[in-house]
Order: sequence, then structure tokens, then C-alpha cells
Amino acid sequence: MWMRSAIRGLLAAQCLLALAACQAPVDRETLSVDPAVQVSRANGRSVFWAGGCASCHAGVGTLSTKAPELGGGQDMQTPFGVFRAPNISPDTTDGIGGWTLATFDRAMRQGISPDGRAYYPAFPYDSYTRMTDGDIADLFAYLQSLPAVSGDVENSAPAFPANLSVAAQTWRRLYLRPGPVVDLADAGPEVAQGQYLVEGPGHCGTCHTPRTPLGGPRLGDWLGGAEMLDGTGLAPNLTPHEDGLGDWTLDEIVEALHPLDAGESYEGMAAARIDLAFLPEGDLLAIAAYLKALPPVAAAP
Ligand code: HEC
Ligand code: HEC
Repeated sequence: MWMRSAIRGLLAAQCLLALAACQAPVDRETLSVDPAVQVSRANGRSVFWAGGCASCHAGVGTLSTKAPELGGGQDMQTPFGVFRAPNISPDTTDGIGGWTLATFDRAMRQGISPDGRAYYPAFPYDSYTRMTDGDIADLFAYLQSLPAVSGDVENSAPAFPANLSVAAQTWRRLYLRPGPVVDLADAGPEVAQGQYLVEGPGHCGTCHTPRTPLGGPRLGDWLGGAEMLDGTGLAPNLTPHEDGLGDWTLDEIVEALHPLDAGESYEGMAAARIDLAFLPEGDLLAIAAYLKALPPVAAAP
């Protein structure tokens, strides 16, 4: 008898633990299509380029800027293992053609897959979590209008311990912070727009912010510069510190966001510049204004 109640007790404790583990920091209502709200594919396209989705999800040689084919990307080599961005084309078997807006929203802003797994942070959902409802809905409508591509890339192959599902869950719990990173509440609308673009869809902090040993962003050193995880060099300090963009004018920053050479490969900051070229010049100015308004941070040791 005591045996049975002990087992029941244990089970209850386990259930509680499991519940605690599943408790998301930002479990909110997920989106559904409100027929009264008109989605805008044109805006979805801008959000797509601001978010750099093609740079990870389109394979080499498949990038058509008119109708990107998102059949899955190349290997991303990192100290945490090899990551591959999957097929997010509207193919119903291999892509996300069968997804609802709610499923997409959960992936983008909560980092949770349809089968309940926490995504690896190689997918920068810790930035996308700051995107607005409208941008998520428009982006989804745009993605569903792109060509369906069959086939998928191999699964990511994280190294131990990043391959443990609890590692991704813990990362998510520690680093998923939907609110703004820096407090610029008194800033004007231009800085606010830049803040949204940089901290949200633009995911600039993914490369430009130094990381903790667990691979999370060191938010106190936001945009203070960091070595690229794939070993391709330094993503410089973007704050108005003398180690960073301290003496740069707004125009110089905007200039540095434009593509440099026509022949550049679609990788790293070169890819970010190609993507940013799809945004109106006003967005680039807003990004520059935000960078100038940041608290200065000394280059990370
Ligand atoms: C830096 C690379 C990178 C960028 C940029 C990126 N993704 Fe991903 N994405 C990934 C990786 C890697 C995964 C797989 C994560 C995993 O399996 O845990 C992923 C997964 C996804 C998934 C889940 C797919 C599935 O089958 O479960 C969706 C949806 C998605 N990304 C959409 C987007 C959209 C939309 C954008 C642009 C706003 C974007 N991604 C930008 C790397 C990226
Ligand atoms: C995939 C990683 C990556 C992402 C994402 C990224 N950057 Fe960069 N960025 C770099 C690297 C690496 C460099 C240095 C090489 C270069 O300038 O091409 C750089 C350079 C820059 C520079 C020039 C700074 C200087 O001192 O020369 C600016 C400005 C900049 N990035 C802004 C941004 C903004 C704004 C975003 C987001 C919209 C962003 N970057 C997203 C990796 C990245």
C-alpha cells in the first residue's frame, strides 16, 4: 500500500517538475488569423529582408531575390556543433506549408517547435521574440506565397552538451527576453524604429554582442562587439564608444550598411548588407540613430 502511494507521490512530483520545465517565460496567447485584419504581403516581404531569413534558409545558388527558395541552408559551423536551417518553404511535406499562423508564431517568438521541442538558438528567435503581431502575420503570409521546394537539409548536429534537449530548454528559459534590451523610453520615433529593427527582426546582436559561456547574449555589453562563432573574424563594437562608432556620423553609419562590392558572397555582414538594401533608406537612418543613442560599451575582453 505504502509502495503505491509512494509511487503516486513520486509521479506527482515528476509531473510538477515536468510542468515547471514546460513553463515558458512568455507563454502568451498565440496568434490566429483575424478575418477583419488584412495581412500585407508587401510588409511581410520587408520584414523578411529585415530578418535576414534567406541568408540562413536559402541554399547556395538558390537565392532569387524575387521569389526566394527556402529549401534549407548550408552548414553553420560553431563551437556548439553544426547547425542547419531547415526547409521553411510552403511545401506541405518538407516545409511549413501545413503550418497555421499560431504554429509559426510559437516557433518565431517562443522558440518552440510544433512537437514541443525548444529550438537551438542558432535560430535567432531570442531576437524575433520582439517582433509585433502584425509583422509576424504579414511575414507568414509572405512566406506562404513563395515557391514550394521539396526535400530538406540534414538535421542539425549539435555537439555535447548542446545536443541534450534540456540544454536548449534551459537556454530558452535563460535568454528569451521579449522586452526591449536597452531603455530608450524617452527616445523619439526614429530611434524607436531603429531599436525595433535592430533588437527584433534585424537580430544584429547575434553577431555583434559578446556571449556568455552558455552561448547567450551578454545583454550588459549589448552590441559591444564579438568574435564570430564560425571563426570568420570580429563583428565590431557598434556602440558610440571610442572602441566602436564613437566618432562616426549618421551618414557614415548608413554608408557602412550598404553593400560594399557587387561580387561579395552572401555570408556574414555582407549578407546582412544585401538584405538591408531591400529596406527603405529611412530604416537605415533609423538604425544609425539607434546605434548613436546606445549606451557606450568598451570592447569586450
Ligand atoms: C542565423 C541563421 C538563421 C536566420 C537568420 C533565420 N533562421 Fe530560421 N532557423 C535557423 C535554424 C538553425 C533553425 C533550426 C533550429 C532547430 O532545429 O532547433 C531554424 C528554424 C526555423 C523555423 C522552424 C522550422 C521547423 O521546421 O521547425 C522557422 C519557422 C524559421 N526558422 C523561420 C525563420 C524566419 C521566418 C526567419 C527570418 C525572419 C529566419 N528563420 C531566420 C536559422 C536561422
Ligand atoms: C552574421 C553576423 C552579423 C550580423 C547578423 C550583423 N553583422 Fe554587422 N558586422 C558583422 C561583421 C563580421 C562585421 C565586420 C566585417 C564587415 O564590416 O563586413 C560587421 C560590420 C558592421 C558594421 C561596420 C562597423 C565597422 O566598425 O566597420 C556595421 C555598422 C554593422 N556591422 C551593423 C550591423 C547592423 C545594424 C546589423 C543588424 C541589422 C548587423 N550589423 C548584423 C557581422 C554581422
